[in-house]
Amino acid sequence: MKRLLYLLSVLFVCLSCHQVSSPNGSLTVRFRLTNSGEPEYRVARDGTTVIDWSRLGLQCAELNLTNEFRIGSIEKHYDIAQEWETVWGEERTIVDNHNEMIIRLKHRSGAQMNIIFRVFDDGFAFRYGLPDAGRKLTITDERSEYRFAADHEAWSIPWRTEFYEGLWTKAPLSLKDTMCSPVTIEMTDGSYALVHEAALTDYPAQNLYMQDGALRIYLTPWLDTNAQPRPDKAYITTPFPTPWRMVILARDLKQLVASRIMLNLNDPCKIDDTSWIHPMKFIGIWWGMHMKSMTWEQGPIHGATTANMERYLRFAKEHGIEAVLAEGWNKGWEDWRSFSFTEPYSDWDMNYLSRLAQTLGVQIIGHNETGGNAADYETVLDEAYAYHLEHGIHAIKTGYVSPIIRTLDGLQLNKGQSGVRHYRKVIETAAKYHICIDNHEPVMPTGLQRTWPNLMTQEGVRGQEWNAWSKDGGSPCSHVTILPFTRIMAGPVDYTPGVFAFENPVMPQTRVHSTLMNQLGLFVCIYSPLQMACDLPENYIKHPDAFRFIEQVPCDWERSMLVDGAIGDYCIFARQRRGGDDWYIGGVNGDDPRAVTIPLTMLQQGVTYKATVYRDAADADWQTNPYAYVIEQYDVTASDELSLWMASGGGLAISLTVQE
Ligand code: NOJ
Ligand code: CA
Repeated sequence: MKRLLYLLSVLFVCLSCHQVSSPNGSLTVRFRLTNSGEPEYRVARDGTTVIDWSRLGLQCAELNLTNEFRIGSIEKHYDIAQEWETVWGEERTIVDNHNEMIIRLKHRSGAQMNIIFRVFDDGFAFRYGLPDAGRKLTITDERSEYRFAADHEAWSIPWRTEFYEGLWTKAPLSLKDTMCSPVTIEMTDGSYALVHEAALTDYPAQNLYMQDGALRIYLTPWLDTNAQPRPDKAYITTPFPTPWRMVILARDLKQLVASRIMLNLNDPCKIDDTSWIHPMKFIGIWWGMHMKSMTWEQGPIHGATTANMERYLRFAKEHGIEAVLAEGWNKGWEDWRSFSFTEPYSDWDMNYLSRLAQTLGVQIIGHNETGGNAADYETVLDEAYAYHLEHGIHAIKTGYVSPIIRTLDGLQLNKGQSGVRHYRKVIETAAKYHICIDNHEPVMPTGLQRTWPNLMTQEGVRGQEWNAWSKDGGSPCSHVTILPFTRIMAGPVDYTPGVFAFENPVMPQTRVHSTLMNQLGLFVCIYSPLQMACDLPENYIKHPDAFRFIEQVPCDWERSMLVDGAIGDYCIFARQRRGGDDWYIGGVNGDDPRAVTIPLTMLQQGVTYKATVYRDAADADWQTNPYAYVIEQYDVTASDELSLWMASGGGLAISLTVQE
């Protein structure tokens, strides 16, 4: 429930001083119009310019809303402060504290455009509001830019990266080509910035590129019938607010990952009764298909058979895993096109399995692969979700394997306006049927899970599956040490951790670049409220002592924090179970073996905890000895520090439970 602590709103017109500072005064955003009436803004932290004068505006086919403006009025609201509770998340309570400045502009054409700035202590955001009634506009370009004061280094993936499944690279902004949003910037003074957007609901996703020393926005275009970009980016009818343009400005990585600006910029929850939404760990009939020991389609090694699913459901029950995903249960996998979402293959007995799942108290996670055929999926959404609900299924993994999705508007990019509309329709329809979504091949998340908490997790990442079949040998060790500071800043990710067998009989040169302990560490470092343990049950039972951590680790948190880390080198996170006293610490390491010290100051003072430490053995190494690990237990308190070591591609996991 949203709790309004206090709202002190001061409204006045100010024609000379166009600036607003953050609640603690450290960040200041200034606004001006140039002589030709072009809107511009500048941002300073503690008096030093972080973003120099940068242009604003929208270019429409019908109207040029980038110049010839005059200021109508300026309205400011101070100390907007509220605390709200998440349905699930990295923490229970989030504080939204910001000041706001609304610039009401009048265009020479008579059109009105508002620019709304919000300034937080850890960043700022702005959006355009077009308040006129009933104007139809075609946006062809958004002129928003970020002129950072220096040529900082930035982490990004190129804007055409298919499904965002790429490796993040670092380079000075001036040398970057096109970029997907978000972009994580290592500033020359040792602080960090993250450029992204929030509340993307009916607009194309933003991409970024450098031009004349400024980071500029390139809106994902509509495509023509030859799949070529059209000049038009967004069709809107006013009144219309654009998504928020957002920049986190953090002193260090701890502050960066703790920033909640993106969620605060999204609308509050629109689902009245959220009691059916549950974070869950799950296993699934899945890795076998990627490792080619099973098939999606019916045949001699079909994965999703009644017998196989029964085995998985019973395994889940025995090990306290809440749910089981099954891919390939439904007709259509022969051509990956003509999928049915209500007709199982003949070797899948849906009635029997749903009754069994209910008896065992384990959830089935459904799977709707569309092959990128979003248009047809929309026509059967209600029917498909009613069918799943009828069989007690409250979570569905969706998928759009096709470089361009077929939407009701033709062949379009997933992250264009048409794709954005489709994904939102899926989430809103699923909510009516009490179904949670795990969306693969998505548009990059922007915090919509605050409004629709049934949007639980998404892919949009080079996930574990690449370590099964990628021709480049698998993702480098550094990959998982980069994701928490880049992709995961945009929202939960279905990375699918938990590989326990590293041999790859199908592609011997390709494998998971990780020790077994690294796979445990991922359960804490990679945040997802639907968290898959991806390996086969037969591989888990070979290491029951290590699997114990996966059985115990939660995926919904009271509090979360970065303990230590450096992008591309390593990271260590600590999280407290939601509604519990126990803490979990996870670490993942890049290529270089590393000694780390973990202070336990997060624990309750004066309380003794039992620490179960899962660590790489001294001779562990992802290439030569990934299975070498040690598990030990000792008593600890908040004044203790743990000195541990992570192998090359290694990791660590710790559970801390209060001693009775
Ligand atoms: C791609 C998804 O990322 C993967 O998890 C899934 O198994 C396949 N598509 C099939 O739907
Ligand atoms: Ca994928």
